[in-house]
Amino acid sequence: MPTLLITGANRGIGFGVVRLLAAKGWRIHATCRQPAQAEELQALARNSAGQITLHRLELLDFPAIESLGVTLRDEAIDVLFNNAGVMNMAQRRYDPALTTQDFGHTDVEEWTKVFQVNVVAPMKMAEAVVESIARSERKTIITATSVMGSIRLNTTGRWHHYRTTKAAVNQMMRGMAAELRPRGIICFPLHPGSVRTEMNFAAAPLSIEESAAGIVKVIENASLKNSGRYMTWNGEEMVW
Ligand SMILES: NC(=O)c1ccc[n+]([C@@H]2O[C@H](COP(=O)([O-])OP(=O)(O)OC[C@H]3O[C@@H](n4cnc5c(N)ncnc54)[C@H](OP(=O)(O)O)[C@@H]3O)[C@@H](O)[C@H]2O)c1
Repeated sequence: MPTLLITGANRGIGFGVVRLLAAKGWRIHATCRQPAQAEELQALARNSAGQITLHRLELLDFPAIESLGVTLRDEAIDVLFNNAGVMNMAQRRYDPALTTQDFGHTDVEEWTKVFQVNVVAPMKMAEAVVESIARSERKTIITATSVMGSIRLNTTGRWHHYRTTKAAVNQMMRGMAAELRPRGIICFPLHPGSVRTEMNFAAAPLSIEESAAGIVKVIENASLKNSGRYMTWNGEEMVW
């Protein structure tokens, strides 16, 4: 069975993907910041007969990412899914009424941290486990992006901190795809849809289950044809 390494596995879209791939028999290295408090994930791991391994990982702690790579260095990892991400450091959620990331509200410390979690950490994760990916069958690295990272579709502005990190991660994954293609490694950014999680608002069109089911299909069907493309949860391509 294939092996998944995923960040932000304790809730939201990450937990949805873990639940579905665990049911399909995948072996899963599930990372989150506070495993002791990840009750649903703990329960799933307990019932999985050793199929799910939990790892504590704060993505702002880059040495910890490198240590995880060392821990996993003898494994073959088929898919790395850099799922974890933040909208902002304080409220952590999208609220159309908030103006905190609008023009005139630049918060340097927050912007830097959002960038570190959404862009730098996925690169560090990929670097930490690339040899484990290279020796697997599926050889796939996926990073969560957003429609808010599309430059073409940005006609309203606002949310500069978050938008720029997702545009940056698109650029990063496209470059990573070009660099790793000679080794047969598939890399792409993936927009999970607009999903009702803690990050997003209650009126978002997709449930976690719908988004996760689409993402799992994209994971299962990933090939070098997808590499370097701006993919969506339902297997379509976004405009950059
Ligand atoms: N929901 C949407 O509509 C939507 C749309 C477009 C893109 N996305 C993207 O999809 C991904 C998942 O989003 P979601 O809606 O599932 O969000 P969510 O419910 O807010 O979950 C975010 C996950 O990221 C983890 N995380 C945040 N900061 C972290 C850090 N410093 N270190 C380690 N883990 C950290 C959280 O852990 P804690 O529980 O410890 O905070 C949590 O597991 C994100 O990258 C997001 O940008 C979501």
